[in-house]
Amino acid sequence: MDEEFVVTPWEVRGRVDYQKLMQQFGARPLTQAEVSLLEKYAGEVHPLIRRGFFYAHRDFDAILKWHGEGKPWALYTGRGPSGPVHIGHMVPWILLKWLFNKFGVEVYFQMTDDEKFYDDPEMRLEEATKWAYENALDVIALGFTPDKLHLIIDTKDIKPLYPIAAKVAKKLTWNTVKATFGFTDSTNIGLIFYPSLQIAVAFLPTELHGRPTPVLIPCAIDQDPYFRLARDIAESLGYPKPATLYSKFIMALTGESKMSASNPNSAIYTIDDEKTIRRKIANAYTGGRPTAEEQRRLGGNPDVCPVYHYHMLFDPDDASVEKIYHSCKSGALLCGECKQMLYEKIRKFVKQHQEAREKARDKVDAYRLSSKLS
Ligand code: TYM
Repeated sequence: MDEEFVVTPWEVRGRVDYQKLMQQFGARPLTQAEVSLLEKYAGEVHPLIRRGFFYAHRDFDAILKWHGEGKPWALYTGRGPSGPVHIGHMVPWILLKWLFNKFGVEVYFQMTDDEKFYDDPEMRLEEATKWAYENALDVIALGFTPDKLHLIIDTKDIKPLYPIAAKVAKKLTWNTVKATFGFTDSTNIGLIFYPSLQIAVAFLPTELHGRPTPVLIPCAIDQDPYFRLARDIAESLGYPKPATLYSKFIMALTGESKMSASNPNSAIYTIDDEKTIRRKIANAYTGGRPTAEEQRRLGGNPDVCPVYHYHMLFDPDDASVEKIYHSCKSGALLCGECKQMLYEKIRKFVKQHQEAREKARDKVDAYRLSSKLS
């Protein structure tokens, strides 16, 4: 029997059945037809797509065709700044940067300090806003320039968003948001209004440019409820429907479906130092056997192993990843060695990322949409 699982924008519980989740939400599988269309326009396909991390979508093919007709579009994604960024959060942003490199369109990035304030009883608003600035460094560090990346910190940059959010809010009934997000009578009204803001950014490029400018939203599938609603109301408000591209969650180091903010050892954060990263990888759950002798005799199980999962994320070379997979299964590769190889890959990525992050530190305001509109 299937294990029960729950996925909402604020919570992931149990072992996620991704095919079932996609069907529940009503998204479509990413098939070879869409991947080939992407390859036609981008010239290649990113490993995160080739390796099945991104696996579902809404109208990805339609936006590629729109692009093929020479029409304008934009990229949109975001972050709920509740603490440091972990490797899982970076996944949609790495694809975002790749899509930006390939298509050169504008990027809208929303920092929802208000959402995190409403959602977490312990969170002070000032703290969430501070995290918005900190997390913005992780986005900028990927190499965006201020002319193309438009950062929106909700409590700071609300002006262009608010009129759109008001129109969105008027279209959404309590009944609808209750059913979509599972709100209850004790949910605060900030959180109940909040979806209007996340939806509003999907329509912002059309408002700013004064012509239909649909967005493509790369994110993990937990964010789908917002964009399902956005698509339902778009046309009645005179906006094009947003398109989406959904990833699975990057496994926690504990082997669970999603990293947990309450267990810092379940994830590698972009601000972790080398010693911490080494320790977290050394302590990670694996698909290996209890003893080296058994591992050599019976082989390991890379399919359930977060260490293998992370090799797939950090190693662009297909042949190298395949070699790890097969030598784990055959028993030739032991977990200690495999973890050491992973540590080297992540250490390299994080070192370069942390340097770029610090260089961005006093530049955040130049990326904010408000600084460009005023
Ligand atoms: P947040 O901060 O929960 O997550 C930020 C982004 O990371 C994705 N994500 C993951 N992806 C892969 N593996 C994981 N383990 C993992 N955990 C989180 C999320 O899907 C998200 O893309 N409400 C949003 C902020 C937001 C937003 C948006 C997100 C505002 N506008 C538009 C996506 C698109 C939030 O709290 O994200």
